[in-house]
Amino acid sequence: MMDLIKIQKIDNHSKIKKVLLDSILKNPGVKWTSNNSDKEINYNVSNTDWQQKKSGIIQNDGSIWDYSEFYVKNIKPYFKKYDFVNCDRINVHNVWYHQYLKDDFHGWHVHGECQFASIYYLELPDKKHCTEFYDSINSKLVKFDTEEGDLIIFPSFIPHQSPKILDNSRKTIISANFSFDYLNKASYEF
Ligand SMILES: [Fe+2]
Repeated sequence: MMDLIKIQKIDNHSKIKKVLLDSILKNPGVKWTSNNSDKEINYNVSNTDWQQKKSGIIQNDGSIWDYSEFYVKNIKPYFKKYDFVNCDRINVHNVWYHQYLKDDFHGWHVHGECQFASIYYLELPDKKHCTEFYDSINSKLVKFDTEEGDLIIFPSFIPHQSPKILDNSRKTIISANFSFDYLNKASYEF
């Protein structure tokens, strides 16, 4: 199962980083925190637009949220490289950012209503803060050697978490959920 997790380096990372960080700075999100419930996964993220974006990247008036269009244009080709079943369409369901500061974390969770999830490390000053995955078949915690500028794609049912940041560094990720659709006809004539 863990072999379905793929890491790619994004070309032009420094240029993309500048555009996206500028957008986040101009349109700050909100703090997103759980109330330490025993029943729910806990989380504490200082700055995120997740609450606004979870319903999708199309706004009520039909326009596309701020940086989402830029993000999809630049990153969708990397989603296509992951298409090992050969489909003709990729649906990007939503795009959002999480900016983690000291004491921030996101506990174990999965992403619903999509086939795949992705995390682009826009700012990752310390590799120890990269995402942790849980291999439920072998009961093992798995970490990958990822760095800033990497895009990690994984089946959305794989449990993962963002470990708590204990120092003063800042981690910023852009996440997107997507699905492949329409199997390519010519590839399935057998
Ligand atoms: Fe996640």
